[in-house]
Amino acid sequence: MNTPKALVFDLYGTLYNVHSVAARCEAQYPQRGNEISTLWRQKQLEYTWLRSLMGEYRNFEQATRDALVYTCKHLGLALDEAACDMLCQEYLRIQPFPEVPEALRRLNALGLPLAILSNGSTHSIRTVVQHSGLEHAFAHLISVDAVEIFKPHPRVYELAERRLALQRSDILFVSSNAWDAAGARHYGYPACWVNRSGGCFDELGQQPDHVVTGIDALAALMEARLGAPRAATSESAT
Ligand code: LAC
Repeated sequence: MNTPKALVFDLYGTLYNVHSVAARCEAQYPQRGNEISTLWRQKQLEYTWLRSLMGEYRNFEQATRDALVYTCKHLGLALDEAACDMLCQEYLRIQPFPEVPEALRRLNALGLPLAILSNGSTHSIRTVVQHSGLEHAFAHLISVDAVEIFKPHPRVYELAERRLALQRSDILFVSSNAWDAAGARHYGYPACWVNRSGGCFDELGQQPDHVVTGIDALAALMEARLGAPRAATSESAT
């Protein structure tokens, strides 16, 4: 793998924990928070893929809202307009994983441009990043809004290559979503899979170039590559 000239991150599930919404779900529907959050995320992803196949783009906020409506119907939970608005707002306030702020600081110190390429709308990405106070860490926030189709469509991955004006082989794409890391690699980016939960990689004909347990381990890997003082790494090459 080339030494990367830039890092491009997925947002939801990679830098930010989508299950931050579980607490608010739990407050609204006691004992059901985790169940709602899990099905909500699964349906949200499915709706992005299905909308892409249908050729009928609705942005990520709409997919999120539709997925919540389905989830509550499926679980037999009443959801009025106000509760739907309140829970969807929570998706704009999800929290970064604990190691992320310091790991981004270490990566910034290496002088590598950092970008986010997300299925989120321009508004969603900006709001989430600003709410967490991490906007200074990123040179680019790139939304699928520009092409009106979702990852893993190649047109989305192309956006980052164009915006960064780099060869795809010089960009390391980083995602916790195995299907997204596979999609990026299929497009031609070297890919780093952030496997926090000890899961299995998807069977999509691709393998990640690197597997790390968190963004801190990625920072250590980049420090080792770029010659900064070595920190402990739990990276395992595949
Ligand atoms: C994203 C979703 C796919 O941020 O996690 O693009």
